[in-house]
Amino acid sequence: MDIALDLGSSRTRLFIDKKGKVLDEASVAAYNVISNKIIAVGDEAYAMLGKTPDSISAEYPLANGVISQSALVEDMVQILMKHVCTSKIVMPRVVAAIPGDVTEVEKRAVVNAISAFGVRRVYLIENSKVAAMGAGLDIMGPHGSMVADLGAGTSDIAILSLGGIAESKSIKTGGNKMDEEILKYMKREYSLVIGLPMAERCKKAIGTLSEPDGDEEEKTFRVKGRDAIGGLPRFVDVKASEITAVIMETAMEIVSAVKDVIENAPPELVGDIYEDGITLTGGLSKLDGFAKLIADNTGIRVKVAKDPEDCVILGCGEATKYISEVEKNSKTDINPLMAAY
Ligand SMILES: Nc1ncnc2c1ncn2[C@@H]1O[C@H](COP(=O)(O)OP(=O)(O)OP(=O)(O)O)[C@@H](O)[C@H]1O
Ligand SMILES: [Mg+2]
Repeated sequence: MDIALDLGSSRTRLFIDKKGKVLDEASVAAYNVISNKIIAVGDEAYAMLGKTPDSISAEYPLANGVISQSALVEDMVQILMKHVCTSKIVMPRVVAAIPGDVTEVEKRAVVNAISAFGVRRVYLIENSKVAAMGAGLDIMGPHGSMVADLGAGTSDIAILSLGGIAESKSIKTGGNKMDEEILKYMKREYSLVIGLPMAERCKKAIGTLSEPDGDEEEKTFRVKGRDAIGGLPRFVDVKASEITAVIMETAMEIVSAVKDVIENAPPELVGDIYEDGITLTGGLSKLDGFAKLIADNTGIRVKVAKDPEDCVILGCGEATKYISEVEKNSKTDINPLMAAY
């Protein structure tokens, strides 16, 4: 049995061969702070965020795509894998996606969290490779393709060719940073204290990187929170253009990383990218106007993949088909698709 795992900063997804995506839940764990016992994981724990009594803590145990609290991640992975992998006899082989630019220690932490479940072997593969595979791009041939996986905690940008990464950049910024900026803005501008889930809802509802259209009435969103001074519940109707101003800096950081990758890539591959365009994957690629912003700043066509938030897990699932080949060529392959641990 082969399993694919996308351990994202905001969501964890699991894929099983012959079945497809079988789980998609928030990467959150809730535990009792005195006994350290896990109370809930996934969507159930997400519903507790910001609402827990003193004795319980609900947290995202991954930050910027890497494990920040190893014991919690281990418990979360165990419980979620148990949901989908009910056989106690067959030990699965697991292919897991990791951001580019992670250290050996960070990779080990992922391998350990998965191994604790009792698996035959763990394979790690870069986010950008599987994002491209999941978006239906052919990364094995000599033709270059470019993908930007824009997630919650990381943005992985790469130009791929012959099954490998020709040029890449991974930056620790994404949708979470925008949520934090919205939260800070509400406090600064309106003295309204809100939680990150409310900030994320606002970003998804009215967030845009496009200039407001003069003819259309601007969208607004009712942000609910607590008055910073009086402490009572209050709401503010914010306009889309306010949110654009707040999230633009983070978006431009990502745009500039995309430009860096193009500038540093071998010219022949850039020619291929110019013809085929850039493919966006990851949840944040659904943010209104992002594809156009990147296109305007690079002069290259940009398209958003179908179901962009699922590309990494689907590509990881696709990669499980290559496990035997990787095993066979492990000593001779100069450009292995994934690394065995
Ligand atoms: N319609 C939307 N508009 C704007 N942002 C969105 C939308 N849908 C999802 N997002 C944002 O996309 C991000 C989640 O993307 P994704 O699921 O790819 O991240 P992840 O894989 O968990 O994180 P990472 O890969 O960075 O570790 C969140 O910040 C979420 O708010
Ligand atoms: Mg991701």
